[in-house]
Amino acid sequence: MPVKSIKELDIRGKRVFFRFDFNVPLDQAGSIKDDTRIRRAIPTIKYAIEHGAKCILSSHLGRPKGELKPEMSLKPVAQRLQEILGVPIRFADDCIGPKVKEAVAALPDGGVLLLENLRFHAGETKNDPEFAAQLASLADVYVNDAFGTAHRAHASTVGVAELLKEKAAGLLLNEELENLEKALKNPAKPVVAIFGGAKVSDKLAVLENLVARMDAVLIGGGMANTFLKAQGVDVGSSKIEEDMTGTAGGILKSAREKGCAVLLPDDVVISDRIEEGATGQTVDASAIPADQMALDIGPKTIERFTQEIRKAGTIVWNGPMGVFEISAFKNGTMKIAEAVASAPGFSLVGGGDSIRAVQQAGVADRISYISTGGGAFMEFMEGKTLPGVAALE
Ligand code: 3PG
Repeated sequence: MPVKSIKELDIRGKRVFFRFDFNVPLDQAGSIKDDTRIRRAIPTIKYAIEHGAKCILSSHLGRPKGELKPEMSLKPVAQRLQEILGVPIRFADDCIGPKVKEAVAALPDGGVLLLENLRFHAGETKNDPEFAAQLASLADVYVNDAFGTAHRAHASTVGVAELLKEKAAGLLLNEELENLEKALKNPAKPVVAIFGGAKVSDKLAVLENLVARMDAVLIGGGMANTFLKAQGVDVGSSKIEEDMTGTAGGILKSAREKGCAVLLPDDVVISDRIEEGATGQTVDASAIPADQMALDIGPKTIERFTQEIRKAGTIVWNGPMGVFEISAFKNGTMKIAEAVASAPGFSLVGGGDSIRAVQQAGVADRISYISTGGGAFMEFMEGKTLPGVAALE
């Protein structure tokens, strides 16, 4: 059954419980470092205000494990919402209880109340039925717009959805599902996936699923070393996951059987240090000296990857091509970001590091779609059903 959109519900004058993903990074002083997830929630909140809903907003922030941790309060988020929306945002010091009920009862049509961090209660992550019932008792309607948390079966993503009959996805969740499905379910061919990042083990299940669906998978970043090693290449002192070489070999074999080309680096940028000020040297991937680590992809690899990216009808990218936080090793990731942005095909980027990479390269506005999901994006790529989405069906 398809997921309903908030646009199909009559929300005027009703108490609507919204689940957002306002899990934003904060600095030491408690200021928001990146408000992308807040900004991406704005269209749904504006829609609800304009349609006269009594808006009850909820989210988690961090992993406080059921304890009240002031440094994980959603207060800075209320402040930022107020700045962006230009309307007063009421804030409740808790997310359940009599005071919250009073605050909800005092909400005018089109009014907005942000509840305190759901994870200050242990019942949230346990999907405790009693806690879910208390959240559900605040509202008439349930709207989930938290794509980034859709892979968690928690009280606010699943429990409440099961208790409230009227429910739908918010505009962001709808948009995420549409774009991710466009890339995976019925993509324009050829479909090319670019994978990078430090560890194969983090992305194993995704790679296994993707080699069966993609025409080509381009592998860079730290994880490429484990694949090179699986092919018998000596990768010097590059960090590899020794226990993953067998699995990496299995993925390469399965890709061959399924007609998916797997491209590994031909050349790499090496150094004996991973720190700012280090200098890199380009060598063939098969000629890494024993005391050196591969920390970026080299120019030949960039060229070969770029050719595949240009030909693609659909491009999915997750994970950087090297240690792009350090000047000497950022070139591969920046060039691939530029290639993805300039490619004529539909491009989908997901995962925190890849998003930072496209921002750093200054090409974010030329990517077809940037997902707000980290873990949720990966689980969707694995082909898993997301519990937060299933609960709306
Ligand atoms: C995320 O940042 O990926 C989501 O907000 C989910 O957070 P979690 O991994 O703490 O559940």
